[in-house]
Amino acid sequence: MTDHIRIENRDNILNLTFARPEKKNALTNAMYGALADALIAAETDPAARVIVMKGEGDMFTSGNDVGEFAAIAAGAVQGERHVSRFLQALVQSTRPLVAAVQGRAVGVGTTMLLHCDFVVLAENAQLSTPFINLALVPEAASTLLMPQRIGYARAYEMFALGEPMDAVTARDVGIANRVVPLERLHAEAGVIAARLAKLPAGSLSATKRLMRNPAVLSAQIGAESQIFAERLKTAEAREAFTAFAERRAADFTKVA
Ligand code: COA
Repeated sequence: MTDHIRIENRDNILNLTFARPEKKNALTNAMYGALADALIAAETDPAARVIVMKGEGDMFTSGNDVGEFAAIAAGAVQGERHVSRFLQALVQSTRPLVAAVQGRAVGVGTTMLLHCDFVVLAENAQLSTPFINLALVPEAASTLLMPQRIGYARAYEMFALGEPMDAVTARDVGIANRVVPLERLHAEAGVIAARLAKLPAGSLSATKRLMRNPAVLSAQIGAESQIFAERLKTAEAREAFTAFAERRAADFTKVA
């Protein structure tokens, strides 16, 4: 169990909050486990009509905990890995998923938005997918969903250069629905969630099922995960994780 995911149900809306602000809400194995459990439990909870995901502090999430990447790469991690359970739970969720994003949404922080049904961004939101900067590959079926959503050229640039996309661009290219001032972010997401919670849940989930193909997305996640796991063990990835720990830029030109 972890205190770093806060789970609260209010008025038939399940709020899942990343609550590790001192580490910019970097997601750990335990946090993925708690998120997966909450998403799975919501499927049979009539009081979880809508799910809202958000982050405490100044950013949504800085993505996967890079220290845990390094530990996995070093073979120092035992036990179940919950990230794939989380990603599969996202893919299989029949509930409307709403995200409220302020500041940075890095890596899985951005790719999880492609599984959300309604994304509200604060004006200061910045979405980035620097998997290649870490010598990894994109995950969460984003290698399929991102080019579908924003076109190959933009998706490739986002993956390869890893630079943040600002909120207005993200809305205009179709990653998000709304951009609102930071101080209105959670209120706006709450209003949307309340509207969705009043709609016929059966009709919402049937529509979602027709709009997305979980089997295809699951298969893509499987293919990505296999390559991701191989990439974690490479000398390139070791250099990236060491550089992060040493707070310096990685130098891949020295890696054979
Ligand atoms: N994993 C582990 N720790 C992280 C983290 C991550 N993804 N992101 C931030 N942190 C930690 C920092 O190491 C720092 O810890 P410390 O106070 O013990 O030194 C703390 O959180 C604050 O981060 P800091 O870098 O000082 O904040 P910032 O506002 O200057 O920068 C980011 C924020 C998100 C731009 C920067 O932290 C970053 O680039 N993080 C890595 C993002 C990443 O590569 N994620 C994986 C994508 S696949």
